[in-house]
Amino acid sequence: MNDEQIIDKNKKYWNDHADLWFGTTALPQYGVRFVTEDDLHLFGDVSGKRLLEICCGSGHSLKYHADRNAGELWGVDLSQKQLDNAKAYLAENGYQAKFLCSPMEAELDVPKEYFDYVYSIYGIGWTTDLQGTFDKIASYLKKDGIFIFSWHHTLHYCVAWSCEERRDLIEDDKLVFHKSYFDEEYFKMPVHDGEIVLCNRKISTYVNALAKAGFVIEQMVEQNDEAVMNAECTDDKSRKAKMLPISVCFKARKL
Ligand SMILES: C[S@@+](CC[C@H](N)C(=O)[O-])C[C@H]1O[C@@H](n2cnc3c(N)ncnc32)[C@H](O)[C@@H]1O
Repeated sequence: MNDEQIIDKNKKYWNDHADLWFGTTALPQYGVRFVTEDDLHLFGDVSGKRLLEICCGSGHSLKYHADRNAGELWGVDLSQKQLDNAKAYLAENGYQAKFLCSPMEAELDVPKEYFDYVYSIYGIGWTTDLQGTFDKIASYLKKDGIFIFSWHHTLHYCVAWSCEERRDLIEDDKLVFHKSYFDEEYFKMPVHDGEIVLCNRKISTYVNALAKAGFVIEQMVEQNDEAVMNAECTDDKSRKAKMLPISVCFKARKL
């Protein structure tokens, strides 16, 4: 599949299934079983600031910032259905944002060197062009502007967990590598009654692409939440989360 076909396939999935994801993976959550913005305070005070969310989904993270008096909110997503949901959700709460329906890989119709923050909660990993996307995000930010994003931790995909079909790989409480950490090839994954196409990038791929785009990394977080780390784990997912990061979060500053 070429990049255009991958984007089209993922767009179809999100247009068909947007309602199933309403309000999930949004701030203050950065990811499942992961420390939250309430613990991390990566954004700090956003009052009066200009924020652009990449892959804004149902708009719940935009509302999170609207509640904290953000000055200007913009959201980009390739799914019109997600944007319709986001627009309605913000309006119900007395807020508004500027929305753009576009793949993040495209040059977005937004002002350059304008935003104080660009961020994405479980969105960036969908890009078919990581370097191009980071370069464009850098161009939308002011100097010293902040880029924050979370995504699956690479190890999470490489190590078998509780999916029924991987049950064969989990034995005697051991987790098993079933995919190479170095494998960045795209793969298809059935979800609900649809299919998505993703790849699993190495952590160094993100770090090096950020550096090349002119960012300096201020923080990289690989920390599952305290409750999971301290709990007596009864399910496979939680046992896994005690042993490796499920998500990763980066905070970078544009030089
Ligand atoms: C896990 S959801 C993010 C949810 C979001 N954080 C929220 O608060 O609802 C991923 C989103 O990425 C969008 N997406 C997937 N591929 C994209 C692409 N190439 N460009 C822009 N958006 C994309 C999907 O439409 C979906 O809304």
